[in-house]
Amino acid sequence: MSGKKPLRLGVNIDHVATIRNARGGEHPDPVRAAELAMSAGADGVTAHLRGDRRHIRDDDMRRLRNEIPLPLNFEMAATAEMHMLVSEIRPHACCIVPENREEKTTEGGLDVAGQDNFIRPFVQSIKGMGVRVSLFVDPDFRQIEAAKRAGAEIVEIHTGAYHEACLSTTNSRIKAELELIRKAAAFAHSLGLEVHAGHGLTFHNVQPVAAIGELVELNIGHFLIGESIFMGLAESVKEMRRLMDDARTGGLY
Ligand code: PXP
Repeated sequence: MSGKKPLRLGVNIDHVATIRNARGGEHPDPVRAAELAMSAGADGVTAHLRGDRRHIRDDDMRRLRNEIPLPLNFEMAATAEMHMLVSEIRPHACCIVPENREEKTTEGGLDVAGQDNFIRPFVQSIKGMGVRVSLFVDPDFRQIEAAKRAGAEIVEIHTGAYHEACLSTTNSRIKAELELIRKAAAFAHSLGLEVHAGHGLTFHNVQPVAAIGELVELNIGHFLIGESIFMGLAESVKEMRRLMDDARTGGLY
């Protein structure tokens, strides 16, 4: 291995619940998916309990916490309702994200700088429960500084703009987005924050991100669950793991 720290893979199982909920009932079970992801090499499980419960339900969170021996990363908006659930479920970590009912997915990072006075006490209160706090932010120095001031231990850098750039054909845009992520990761690390990244990562775009040495965790969901239709969940997790490890050790990027 190079001098870089090992890179953890957090598997987001929200969209197993999306498929389950399309028919109601209990199948497919996101907890079973988490078990399978664990046996295939996932280092953690991530699930987003949305205010509208469009995929993950409260009881999924309880079961993930009680039945899966991996760290549970509870993604959520900073609301009183979620605060109560965290206090009951006590996950390993919370990742606070912005939430908008109309969006298909989390479209941008949290505006920590613009709501300092609200986010800081929220973060402090969750930390007081012994739960680690991560703030999901764009690769923007102002937001990272605000996350540090708020007392977060972790920032997760939103890689959605990089994903969008990868769908286009312009290499210069991809490079520019990657550079923003690199600089943001280095800056956050220099402030003493643990740095994660996620959103829109796939087999095709993960390696340049995985090669960024300051990153210690990637959280990946939609692509892995989608790809599992074709290759199975265990194989898709293993392939992502392999790509991440190769990027970390290979010196290609
Ligand atoms: N990290 C955070 C904070 C997210 O909100 C999401 C999407 O739920 C992800 C990672 C995973 O994104 P994707 O499903 O596009 O891999």
